[in-house]
Amino acid sequence: MPVVTVATTPFEGQRPGTSGLRKKVPVFQQAHYLENFVQSVFNALDGYRGTALVVGGDGRYLNRQAAQVILKMAAANGFGRILVGRGAILSTPAASCVIRKYGAFGGFVLSASHNPGGPHEDFGIKYNATNGGPAPEKITEAVFAQSREIREFRILEAEDIDLDRLGETRLGDAVVEVIDPVADYAELMERLFDFDALAGLFRSGFRMRYDAMHAVTGPYAAEILERRLGAPAGTVINGVPKEDFGGGHPDPNLVHAHDLVAHMARPDGADLGAASDGDGDRNMIVGRNFFVTPSDSLAVLAANARLVPAYRDGITGVARSMPTSGAADRVAEALGIACYETPTGWKFFGNLLDAGRVTFCGEESFGTGSDHVREKDGLWAALMWLSILAGRRGSSVEEIVRDHWRRFGRNYYSRHDYEAIAADAAEGLMANLRAHLGSLAGATLAGRKVKTADDFAYTDPIDGSTAAKQGVRVLFEDGSRIIYRLSGTGTEGATLRVYLERFEPNPARHDIPTQEALADLISASRDLAEIEKRTGMAAPTVIT
Ligand code: G1P
Ligand code: ZN
Repeated sequence: MPVVTVATTPFEGQRPGTSGLRKKVPVFQQAHYLENFVQSVFNALDGYRGTALVVGGDGRYLNRQAAQVILKMAAANGFGRILVGRGAILSTPAASCVIRKYGAFGGFVLSASHNPGGPHEDFGIKYNATNGGPAPEKITEAVFAQSREIREFRILEAEDIDLDRLGETRLGDAVVEVIDPVADYAELMERLFDFDALAGLFRSGFRMRYDAMHAVTGPYAAEILERRLGAPAGTVINGVPKEDFGGGHPDPNLVHAHDLVAHMARPDGADLGAASDGDGDRNMIVGRNFFVTPSDSLAVLAANARLVPAYRDGITGVARSMPTSGAADRVAEALGIACYETPTGWKFFGNLLDAGRVTFCGEESFGTGSDHVREKDGLWAALMWLSILAGRRGSSVEEIVRDHWRRFGRNYYSRHDYEAIAADAAEGLMANLRAHLGSLAGATLAGRKVKTADDFAYTDPIDGSTAAKQGVRVLFEDGSRIIYRLSGTGTEGATLRVYLERFEPNPARHDIPTQEALADLISASRDLAEIEKRTGMAAPTVIT
């Protein structure tokens, strides 16, 4: 099997975004597009010769073909061993688990997360480092620099590997091992949680509904919930992964997981509803007719962590992305543990987790996780909730959250997305906000006094690396916030995200519908940024 060196020329725009390189499938199908990016990653890395690489993805359209290319390139570039999930499948948290468990040098995760899949939809590729987490900016920037200079790539001329048969195959000087995509992850979950207690909960008649949204988590959820914990068949719905996610949008939120939400609104609905996204790292938690915001979920998990064996001795700290509500901060304060505020994107949690500064992390964008892997983990979050419900037998999801609010106060919270706006309009809107930051402090908006207004910047407390321009923040004296940032994961035009938050300590006022509770902040957010004038949009496309 000869290694061939193929001449190539750089492509524009191969800078990894919030979570890897994401483009439409036809972009990835251009000759050499994928190869250039993969070789740029290898060129940006040092010292991997003879080590192991993990490859897997969420099963979307192009997943298998891309995996075959990566296997041949990894072998040609000197990796000694390549672990690939059967069918080229690995959920994002499972990929992280496998990298860590087998001490791999790193891995490629093939996914565009919650974006739709199919021949005209999205594809993506992300490199994860030795700790199992998304490569830090230092690496992603080096990859981008390489992608602009690339002149050739190396690939093995070989037959495709049979990805459906477990076991080892030689590929040039490397060995490819097709592994069971679920086994290592399921074993990890079994170590973290008290499976006997969870099985007991199901035996007592507790009902859960897990919506895998035709995406990668189906086989993981079926194995863990139905087979290992004995939940009735049918607990996992939409459990067979499809290349186009059944034509749906595999994003677990109130808009896209509407079937689950509708089921949970029925009087005979399940006791706990959960859903995960395309690649299994996001989660949504719903109780009977009751939605748990991801920000609240993080706070509730932190407050109840000791109910889970892995966290029985307490957690060291929590971290949340800046736009995520401050609900977790209040728990951290009460527990006397550290709390960190990081830029958007899981990669910013990596150093804190590696250093043992935090145990739990979360983002408002339906991401929750712990130090068991270096990715957010949808099924883990569902098992955490199941454990809390098992530990507090008889309490419903709603009761647990209401109880939490009584104790810590309620952070009313919502995110308004304005999608597919022209890139220059979005840039102009942000530039205009930035230009006015200086004059905002002391001004009155929505009947509240602005305490400070800035563009969030972060210095990593472990390695001192910095990230600037991470979102415009308008912080009010009463603790309310309006935050603006542009999405870094989209593939079409720009998406403006507006995050709104207000704190309400008084339990007598914990029953206001969220949009109503935030109404004045919402209208101020539109006026201040001149959203309609600049984008033509009078209302957001998605509200979560
Ligand atoms: C979005 C979320 C962010 C998350 C990322 C990957 O990024 O907002 O919290 O880490 O997806 O799942 P964005 O499109 O806002 O850049
Ligand atoms: Zn995802």
